[in-house]
Amino acid sequence: MEKHVLFTIFGATGDLASRKLYPSLFRLYKRGQLAEHFAVIGTARRPWTDEHYREVVLESIADLANDKRQAENFARHFYYQSHDVNDASHYVTLKNLGEKLSKKYETLGNQVFFLAMAPQFFGTIAEHLKSEHILTGAGFERIVIEKPFGESLKTATELNDALQKVFREDQIFRIDHYLGKEMIQSVSAVRFANPIFEAVWNRQYIDNIQITFAEAVGVEERGGYYDHSGALKDMIQNHVLQVLSLLVMEKPAKFDEASILREKVKALQAIRKYSHEEALQKFVRGQYTAGELDGQDFISYRSEPNVAPDSRTETFAAGKFLIDNERWAHVPFYVRTGKRMTEKGTRINVVFKKDPGSLFDNAEQNVLTIYIQPTEGFSLSVNGKAAGSGFEIEPLRLSFRHDTEYLGNSPEAYETLFLDVLNGNGMNFSHWEEAKRAWELIDVIREAWDADKSPLPEYAAGTMGPQVAFDLLEKDGRAWNWTPDVWYRERGLLK
Ligand code: BG6
Repeated sequence: MEKHVLFTIFGATGDLASRKLYPSLFRLYKRGQLAEHFAVIGTARRPWTDEHYREVVLESIADLANDKRQAENFARHFYYQSHDVNDASHYVTLKNLGEKLSKKYETLGNQVFFLAMAPQFFGTIAEHLKSEHILTGAGFERIVIEKPFGESLKTATELNDALQKVFREDQIFRIDHYLGKEMIQSVSAVRFANPIFEAVWNRQYIDNIQITFAEAVGVEERGGYYDHSGALKDMIQNHVLQVLSLLVMEKPAKFDEASILREKVKALQAIRKYSHEEALQKFVRGQYTAGELDGQDFISYRSEPNVAPDSRTETFAAGKFLIDNERWAHVPFYVRTGKRMTEKGTRINVVFKKDPGSLFDNAEQNVLTIYIQPTEGFSLSVNGKAAGSGFEIEPLRLSFRHDTEYLGNSPEAYETLFLDVLNGNGMNFSHWEEAKRAWELIDVIREAWDADKSPLPEYAAGTMGPQVAFDLLEKDGRAWNWTPDVWYRERGLLK
């Protein structure tokens, strides 16, 4: 169904807008979900013309546009307005343009504001949208914001208070793009559509769960941001804890936003908040030094552009979360994420307990793996009998991957999330209660690390992280369950 809507993008000249927003809007346009009745106002400080803006939009969708006329028709819906977010008079100009476009495109008063800029401006923008009467209540009015949502519990609370003076929680869409990914959404399908898994989804059968978010890239051009953030805030506070809560939560009463949110918040509340001492024992960090992989040389993190030469920012973080509830008592949830690791791979491994009464000494633990990216699918490792005379047990793997053609047609994370915003569906967004609890858990670790002046562990670029991350599991008599993605390599798809 075609949507009637006026988008206003703050930060329209930025990288995020070109890389993610315009292509996602274009995908919705190609699918007919946006057609005649939408317009986009792009704002930023630079004095661009509509023509120039449209060229930028066209360039950003060049890869997706196989029909030039279609792309041009799409770009014609874009208007540029130079804007200083702190200047109240600029909002009057914006309001006038919005009213004109809303009439021209019959957008029915529906408005979506996308804040693709630094969080310190969120409060000012929200306030002005209200004080200058850009918000009229004529149609739906929703605000979409990107991470980082604050830098600590304190700053996140301030940010949230400022937004909630103007918008209700159900009008605020905090993007966590992992929640738009196909396989993250599949976690609930695996758990709740398969009694064989849900029946064993507890401490009686599960030994530990491992979540790895490995990246092969370094910090790229984002050194300025990353050096103030680090892996803990960049990935664990948001994406990793979101995934963790989906794995930990109890079965919701219904498969809807409110029921799932209730369970996710309960799950996050049940994660143990550590003392400083515990945080130092249970979380480790590392920073990449120069390294080499597949014949390619990589520079150290400290030599990357816009990174302080004596930076102590972690490019890798790993740790153990414990959940204090009946289902999960004593089951460790190991998490790790880092830049410049051996390969890009986001995976969840659910490692089942050994059968204490097993007839076979060499039977391996069953492992259910959910492959989130770059390949998407599942595998289950089981034990079978090796063919031949005698009786040897050998590990086998039942494996399923979505084929790339099927995935090529499935929507991209941002596109899914945009459509959810237009439908007013907040199921795949981060809510305040979740963000708040995540900061409570993360702040302790951050503070413990900041106070700890011992040398920062290092790992060579192209490896799976510092030794301390392996020691973390070894201390518990366990090991990371990770082999390079064989399926991926066999098809020559590993870059
Ligand atoms: C972002 C982080 O949220 O997620 C980046 O800021 C990271 O540092 C990115 O590279 C990873 O996302 P994806 O979709 O490429 O796995």
